[in-house]
Amino acid sequence: MTRILAIESSCDETAVAITEDGKLLANVVATQIAVHEKYGGVMPEIASRLHAENITVCLTEALRQSKLTLEDIDAFAVTRGPGLIGCLHVGLQAAKTLAALYHKPLIPVHHLAGHIYANQYAGEFHYPMLCVVVSGGNTELVIMKDDMDFEIIGETLDDAVGECYDKVARVLGLPYPGGLPIDQHAKLGQHTYELHKPRMPHDTYDFSYSGLKTQVINLVNTLKMKGEPVRMDDMAKSFQDVAIGMVVDRAMRAAKNYGVKQIVLAGGVSANSYLREEMKKAVEHTGIELVIPPLWCTTDNAAMIAKVAEKLYVRKVFAPLTLGVDPNWRISDWDKFD
Ligand code: KG4
Repeated sequence: MTRILAIESSCDETAVAITEDGKLLANVVATQIAVHEKYGGVMPEIASRLHAENITVCLTEALRQSKLTLEDIDAFAVTRGPGLIGCLHVGLQAAKTLAALYHKPLIPVHHLAGHIYANQYAGEFHYPMLCVVVSGGNTELVIMKDDMDFEIIGETLDDAVGECYDKVARVLGLPYPGGLPIDQHAKLGQHTYELHKPRMPHDTYDFSYSGLKTQVINLVNTLKMKGEPVRMDDMAKSFQDVAIGMVVDRAMRAAKNYGVKQIVLAGGVSANSYLREEMKKAVEHTGIELVIPPLWCTTDNAAMIAKVAEKLYVRKVFAPLTLGVDPNWRISDWDKFD
């Protein structure tokens, strides 16, 4: 029997999960959204401090839920990157302390591998597989030909798609995080504002979102200067069509060119209703299976970190206690952490 305790603290959620032979015994998430909402985005210094305040509370609650004690745990897993440096440090120091005290292995987990493997709580993987990783900090297309085998074929050259949603929402006076409110407004609107996709090579799998963000900011400012109202629903719909259109276009082109059996959506933006609908339509009659994560695992949590850690435990991918965080860790380097 293998029991893993996993810690996630890469952004604005402090989370602890415990699994026993793959079964989720505890899944505790303390979100800081209400605090960062005031600033219209995550304040890194405040986020780190709140992780430090919340981590022991989450640990205690996870142990209570699982009815286990720390002596029962076989390995301590933690998100090592990518993420906000100060935030990652809190989780890592907690995991290192526990690993040292209880003489158990320390397992370093890549945050995006976690988002991808969260889908195993929804279904099995069939390779080759395309992972559409769309979150607040990352936008990547990743091909997996086997378990824990990641090849990045496309990524954002500037802003992440979720970051773009959050910045556009801020300009429109919508609350943080902006993804859900824009998604909700877009359902009521028409694509009447002219917004363009970035000019990029037609065969690229890369993304760019900063130009789209600037177009919205300029358009909103121009309307305000003219004294014209911003039609919120139409603006949200016009923006969402372009932002999500880029993801669907690249994902489907990659899926066909790489001959994948399955596409999985991962990360916070995979909660987007329009992305889910458009991807469902796009895979119709292609024979490609689409895996859509349950909403609870689209946001940051430690259950997804535990899922990856189980695999790393079997492979004995353990780190020394000198391990440091890596805010820019690439998913293809998931087993390199010296
Ligand atoms: O995965 P996540 O917690 O961030 C990182 O780990 O980087 O995702 C958070 C992001 C935010 O930018 C949020 O606005 C976005 O996911 N998001 C959405 C939706 N729900 C959350 N974006 C578009 N549509 C949604 N329904």
